[in-house]
Amino acid sequence: MTTSSTRGLLQATGLCLAFGGVKAVEDFSFDAKPGEIVGIIGPNGAGKTTVFNLITGVYAPDKGSVVLDGIELTGWRQDAIARQGIGRTFQNIRLFKGLNVLENVMTASDPYAPYNFFSAILALPAKRAADRQAAQKAREYLDLVGLAGMEDARPESLPYGLQRKLELARALAIQPKVILLDEPAAGLNPSEVREFIDLVRRLHERFNFTIVFIEHRMEVVMNLSHKLFVLSFGKLLASGEPEAVRRNPEVIEAYIGEEE
Ligand SMILES: Nc1ncnc2c1ncn2[C@@H]1O[C@H](COP(=O)(O)OP(=O)(O)OP(=O)(O)O)[C@@H](O)[C@H]1O
Ligand SMILES: [Mg+2]
Repeated sequence: MTTSSTRGLLQATGLCLAFGGVKAVEDFSFDAKPGEIVGIIGPNGAGKTTVFNLITGVYAPDKGSVVLDGIELTGWRQDAIARQGIGRTFQNIRLFKGLNVLENVMTASDPYAPYNFFSAILALPAKRAADRQAAQKAREYLDLVGLAGMEDARPESLPYGLQRKLELARALAIQPKVILLDEPAAGLNPSEVREFIDLVRRLHERFNFTIVFIEHRMEVVMNLSHKLFVLSFGKLLASGEPEAVRRNPEVIEAYIGEEE
């Protein structure tokens, strides 16, 4: 196997997945280097979210591999992949309705908690200390995304833009090497979009993690990405420097009939 670490921190190679007769992803490869911000774009139904689902273990690929930092994660369970350092947000926001804002972020750090089931039910000091630490950390992440003071709120009571920030805080809480954002700016108004771009830049500067994001809003794509991959009907249509990709006639053609 060619090693990964020389080429990218995250390396997906030859990914294929079919749902019945639909080839959702076909021989798709991409890589992201340490600290790189990579955009994945393409028309609706092109297979973008499916690529994220293959990387995060929602589905195992029919063929192909996913390697993070030299470790092959293909076929691993979702929680194991997250622990390895891949955080994500979802196209359709997924927050726990029964938990408040703070607890939603704390769920992300649970896999690390240094206590077992028995100490958990007995609420032993180790668990209480771990909970305090997790709460403290969660507050820091909420603060970073601009949700300080909203710890006790129910996520469903928050405006949409803040729910997106909460998802981001939860993804940060796993201390990811790579963070995957699936249409993070969908549903945001123009001023929220600009604020979001600034927030991602700030987080990237601070953590210097690798970001891979799927996005239809070209303002976000062009402002954030170092490089772009374009999917069309499950396949790679083009990749490279964002400005060149945007001008590529095949890419423009693929988007005809699509609304931005
Ligand atoms: N769980 C599933 N079962 C069956 N078909 C699926 C499933 N998930 C995705 N597909 C199909 O796979 C293809 C790719 O879907 P995917 O959601 O990855 O596209 P996408 O590029 O994220 O689109 P969008 O921009 O609309 O979010 C589509 O034809 C979709 O209908
Ligand atoms: Mg999608």
